[in-house]
Amino acid sequence: MLKAVILIGGPQKGTRFRPLSLDIPKPLFPVAGVPLIQHHIEACVAIEELKEILLIGFYPAALIQQFIVDLQHRYNVTIKYLQEFTALGTAGGLYHFRDQIRYGNPDAFFVMNGDVCADFPLEDLYKFHKSLTNPLVTIMGTEATRQQSLHYGCMVTNKTTQEVTHYVEKPSSYVSTLINCGIYVFSLDIFNTIGDVFTAKQQDCYRNGNSNREAGYIQLEQEILAPMAGTGKLFALQVTKWWSQLKTAGSAIYANRHYLELYRTKHPERLRQPNTSGEDCTIYPDVHIDPTAQIHHSAVIGPNVSIGSGVVIGPGVRIRESIILSDAVINDRSLILHSIIGRSSRIGTWARVEGTPSDPDPNKPFAKMENPTLFNNDGRLNPSITILGCSVSVPSETILLNSIVLPNKELSRSIKNEIIL
Ligand code: GTP
Repeated sequence: MLKAVILIGGPQKGTRFRPLSLDIPKPLFPVAGVPLIQHHIEACVAIEELKEILLIGFYPAALIQQFIVDLQHRYNVTIKYLQEFTALGTAGGLYHFRDQIRYGNPDAFFVMNGDVCADFPLEDLYKFHKSLTNPLVTIMGTEATRQQSLHYGCMVTNKTTQEVTHYVEKPSSYVSTLINCGIYVFSLDIFNTIGDVFTAKQQDCYRNGNSNREAGYIQLEQEILAPMAGTGKLFALQVTKWWSQLKTAGSAIYANRHYLELYRTKHPERLRQPNTSGEDCTIYPDVHIDPTAQIHHSAVIGPNVSIGSGVVIGPGVRIRESIILSDAVINDRSLILHSIIGRSSRIGTWARVEGTPSDPDPNKPFAKMENPTLFNNDGRLNPSITILGCSVSVPSETILLNSIVLPNKELSRSIKNEIIL
């Protein structure tokens, strides 16, 4: 029997994802029409031996519960939310809930960062983990450029055994282009290792007169994986399938495009097929449209567009490389390009909402999202996609270019390279 743990963080995490995470927890933000972590859950339920999925985070349970109830009805796998009383770090939560994870004596368990997007090769990872002698952790690794690698956990491995001999989290200078994807297989004995770190931290706390609570905060990468490198217990499987992180709102457009592409083989029923009868709007694949959305037949949608429930799209509207969240209204002849339109936002007629794609060259096979900073050194906003928070109103005949608009704003003019607070 196998289990999976998805680390979903909490309200104080995911700040670079604002304003999109202001009205919905980031793990539930819809990418390609389904909540971000539903993609993780679907990868897990595809594994026959996997019987339980535990979401660990510090969001109030009320924000997560409905999502769990909805999915629980759909799959024959137990799904539970375990709420940390405070942020416990990427290993502290695992240790705190160790009894629930160990319950039923699983052969191993997956740990997945909730903020990554991928064509998750979980079967391959588990097969590899099982083939090793006494492993504690197998890390899913992928190749990045030298420049990109500095934003991730970097690993040096023995090319014959795949053992990780050296691990540095976000190094200040180049270590390796093999990076940690935040997807792991753990053996149950990992709790002895985390337990040793916890006890040592607890003793430190007593010595220094600090609160015992500090000992509970444990960072997986720095405090567990880095010291484990070179001990014969830590391994990495390098994969070449698509993977990226969802840190900034801009990276959601990149992830949306890739999940839509994966639907071609995994969920063709989620893609709207082009229709030549003239009754439906014009579709350039890949496009996901919720069945409750109303799209005028003269609209032209795609490629790489997701449209949520209750959205209304008027005549002659053109949308490309964008995410339109539920209940938004896009009026006649407007253009939406490289943008995210928040829930219940309204775009007038003949408006133009446009961003500049900030993702890497899609022709590079292992291109990853950089962690772009929002501002240049001189304080100017970096050109990026345009994002409207929820319930924003954009008047007719205006242009919004490379801008971010916070929720509930009624714009009265065109804007370019601005943040409207
Ligand atoms: P950043 O670039 O600083 O974001 O670092 P990172 O990419 O290494 O991410 P980080 O380690 O902060 O988070 C990895 C995953 O773990 C994300 O999905 C977070 O939401 C989640 N996470 C981070 N801290 C906690 C925590 O204290 N508790 C739980 N349950 N999850 C966490």
